[in-house]
Parts: sequence; C-alpha cells; structure tokens
Amino acid sequence: MKKIGFLAVVLVVVASCASVTKGKIDQGKNVGKVESQWANLKVLPQDISEDELKGLMREYNAALGVKCNHCHAPNAEGKMDFASDAKKEKDYARHMITMTGEINKKHFDYDPADKQKVTCFTCHQGNITPKKSSAEVLPKSPVTPSSVK
Ligand code: HEC
Ligand code: HEC
Repeated sequence: MKKIGFLAVVLVVVASCASVTKGKIDQGKNVGKVESQWANLKVLPQDISEDELKGLMREYNAALGVKCNHCHAPNAEGKMDFASDAKKEKDYARHMITMTGEINKKHFDYDPADKQKVTCFTCHQGNITPKKSSAEVLPKSPVTPSSVK
C-alpha cells in the first residue's frame, strides 16, 4: 500500500467513525450491513479502524512469534495480499479470534472494567503451538518419589 493512500485512508476513517470501541471483537454480526474499508473480514468488526486492525495484527505476530506471512499469502506478483484466504493459518486464526472473544465474554464477564482478560498471548506466549504440559517447560522436580528415601 502506498504511503499517501494509507494516510488518506486513515484520515477518512478517523473522520467517519469516531466511536470505534477499542479491542472490540464482533463475530461477524455487522457483515453486509456496514460499508467497510476492508475486503474480507469475517470475524472482526467491519468498522474497525486502520490503526486498530494493524495494532491487532502486530499483537498476533508477537503472541505467536511469527511475521505477517505466517497467516497472509502473497499475490501472483509476490506482494502481500492481506484479503486473500489462501493460507489455512488465517482460517485457524479466525477460529482463535472467535474463541478468545467467547472465553472473555462467557467466563470473564465479572469485571466490566477489563473485558479482555484472556488474549492470544495468554496461551501462545510467543509460540506458534502453545505448550500442553509442564514437562515441556519445567525442569524435573528435584523431589520425585524415587529420590525420596
Ligand atoms: C495469526 C494470524 C495472523 C497474523 C500473524 C497476521 N494476520 Fe492479518 N489477518 C488475520 C485474519 C484472521 C484476518 C481476517 C479477520 C476477519 O476475517 O475478520 C486478517 C486480516 C488482515 C487485514 C484485512 C484484509 C482485508 O481487507 O480483508 C489486513 C490489512 C491484515 N490482516 C494485515 C496484517 C499485517 C500487516 C500483519 C503483520 C503485522 C498481519 N496481518 C498478521 C490473521 C493474521
Ligand atoms: C485458550 C488458549 C488459546 C488462545 C487464547 C489462543 N490460542 Fe491459538 N492455539 C491454541 C492451541 C492449543 C493451538 C494448537 C492447536 C493444535 O495443535 O492443533 C493453537 C493454534 C493456533 C494457530 C495455528 C498454529 C499454526 O499452525 O499456525 C493459530 C494461527 C493461532 N492459534 C492463532 C491464535 C490467535 C490469533 C489468537 C488470539 C486471537 C489465539 N490463537 C488465541 C490455543 C489458544
């Protein structure tokens, strides 16, 4: 995306939707109702601003320890095509976005001041595949049944 075009889009978005909720995750209920600057959003809100979307995407990179191309594929000219669904990782990520939103909404709804207790990082901790057992991380306990005499 050209820098000037990018800035123009940001200005238009800032001017036209002043009240976007921060970090809001909407399971597609706005699809088809709101005119969107984005070509292919199925789970994020259609009216998400450029800044918010890019901020989320950078968080995904950090949470999984990957670059944008882990989920996004290039087009025929080799440029990133962010709207393309060519990579299965992008679809996995959609499930993850929905799941994370549901976990927060259903199980962490007791604190209205912080509606996002669980994030991608909570599980991923910088890894593509979260660890499943303490044995993958922790050294063996010095006190095991066999070492107790
Ligand atoms: C963990 C996977 C993942 C990573 C990493 C990721 N994205 Fe995304 N991105 C997605 C998903 C999923 C969507 C579609 C969300 C939806 O359907 O609502 C998306 C959508 C987008 C869109 C909107 C495209 C459109 O018009 O429909 C842009 C732009 C984008 N990403 C840019 C980036 C950039 C830039 C990076 C790196 C800083 C990045 N993404 C990293 C998963 C990822
Ligand atoms: C409750 C824990 C949890 C949360 C929260 C979570 N994930 Fe995951 N995620 C997992 C687990 C576990 C796997 C591995 C599944 C497997 O092995 O098939 C995974 C796998 C993935 C994968 C596929 C890995 C690959 O091969 O590329 C992507 C992409 C992904 N997560 C993105 C996300 C994003 C983006 C978020 C935040 C919106 C997120 N996850 C939040 C637990 C979580």
